[in-house]
Amino acid sequence: MASALRPRVGEPVLADGAGAAREQEAEGRAAMNSAVKDAVAFHSEIAAEFHASYQTHANRRERVQVWRGFLDRYARDARLAYDMGCGTGILACELAARGIETIGIDGSEAMLNIARDTARNLGGAKMTFLQRMLPISDTAAYARADLIISSSCIEYLESIPAALICFRELLRQRGVLIFSVSNHDSLSRKLVRFVNRLTGRPRYLGLLRHFMTAEEIRRDLQASDLVYLEHAYFAGADRFNRVLARFLPPQFTSNMIIVAARRR
Ligand SMILES: C[S@@+](CC[C@H](N)C(=O)[O-])C[C@H]1O[C@@H](n2cnc3c(N)ncnc32)[C@H](O)[C@@H]1O
Repeated sequence: MASALRPRVGEPVLADGAGAAREQEAEGRAAMNSAVKDAVAFHSEIAAEFHASYQTHANRRERVQVWRGFLDRYARDARLAYDMGCGTGILACELAARGIETIGIDGSEAMLNIARDTARNLGGAKMTFLQRMLPISDTAAYARADLIISSSCIEYLESIPAALICFRELLRQRGVLIFSVSNHDSLSRKLVRFVNRLTGRPRYLGLLRHFMTAEEIRRDLQASDLVYLEHAYFAGADRFNRVLARFLPPQFTSNMIIVAARRR
């Protein structure tokens, strides 16, 4: 279990595998850099390692599979989509590969530079990447989208309701929002948060502002006038969560919740 508690970067994954050591080194560098004050600066520091982790982390591979399932259900008729906090563009490219014109938005130029490179490899896809801080305060100049996705970003923002209202404003009527957020009920998260309080590591955890239950998500969606559609638990592919999953339901053995909602 001790190895599962070693510091990691970018995200709350208790991963096995070769990428972990490289990520720990990167986190050490980021922690030593006094410019790393917030989530955007932090992700700028670790952009390359974060992108590479999609090849090495079981939880990130699981992430892509889970998102594909939601996109299969909700992205079929979308023509224009935003990926909010798109990072290095993994999911934005999933949208574009489905023929959807995609606008990726992120605060980190370093993450966006990798996203632009990744998008170039898709060739012919209609993709734009914009450096903006979220939530966007004045959405008047932005086109209304059929679909907004936001993976593992909303928990870094100051206010969940402010983020949801921004996303709702950017959706056309009956447009769909899909986002993922850290699961408050995850036992591994509780353990890692405890370690973070004692040691300050892993560093990303100190930057996460929100850990939510499914009930809290439903409440915030309702308050933002968005209609809840469904949710699922994921990010349980690491060894620690796999062991817990022999005895407990996914609510307690998954680091993340993914939610779909609709604008009225
Ligand atoms: C954990 S990464 C997730 C990246 C991508 N969505 C994915 O799933 O691979 C979080 C991203 O949110 C971005 N981010 C965090 N806070 C932000 C803010 N206030 N405004 C814009 N981007 C932000 C970071 O720069 C980073 O790229």
